[in-house]
Amino acid sequence: MKYAVFGDIHANLEALTAVLERAAELDVDKYVCMGDIVGYNANPRECLRIVQELGVEMTVKGNHDEQASADSELIGFNPQAAQAIEWTRDHLDDEDKLWLSTLPYKTRIGTKVTLVHATLDMPHMWGYIFDKFSAEVSLEYQFTSLCFFGHTHVPLAFEKFGGLVDGGRYSEVQMTANHKYLINVGSVGQPRDGDPRASFATYCPEEQTIQLHRVDYDVETAQDKIRRAGLPERLAERLGIGR
Ligand SMILES: [Fe+2]
Repeated sequence: MKYAVFGDIHANLEALTAVLERAAELDVDKYVCMGDIVGYNANPRECLRIVQELGVEMTVKGNHDEQASADSELIGFNPQAAQAIEWTRDHLDDEDKLWLSTLPYKTRIGTKVTLVHATLDMPHMWGYIFDKFSAEVSLEYQFTSLCFFGHTHVPLAFEKFGGLVDGGRYSEVQMTANHKYLINVGSVGQPRDGDPRASFATYCPEEQTIQLHRVDYDVETAQDKIRRAGLPERLAERLGIGR
């Protein structure tokens, strides 16, 4: 059994298409989505439709999914993100919004894997895990050996054993019994680790391995679409540099 774990798609159709092509080449059996399907880029409905039709095993809700499907005032978003969310609200229909609004903040695959977009301690508060200190707090609320998360758009792996937490960049993780793992799979549609390639992971439960994959995609087309949609220029620029 092999899962493709992907999230923070952010309406980037070119990146999502490239990731799903790579997943198919890797003979993935099932798909798991870490949320933030919409926001920032110019194809929210198309990406949403693909996730719905892919028969994704589980999807959790991201902060952009939450805000794009609500009509509340936007608080705590930078101006570009807020503008993108307003634009996304205008480009989703009521059915799309209802679907996004009913996604869970966190969920499980069986008894061994938890999924959450942001953090397990307060999933609805959208905190960020960038270091072992914030990872440690989330790990206190993790009751499975493995948890995947997203939100930061930076692929990092944290490991806890004997009360100690360590972590950092990874390309592959071989899990060990009685250790806990908190793994960020990076972002499909807006990577922020300095590598503009789309990011996702595969997880093999039998072998207890997680592998990170980076995929080239047509960045220029995604940038053109942002500009033609009248979305902020900064959102196009950052795709080119992965920041
Ligand atoms: Fe995101």
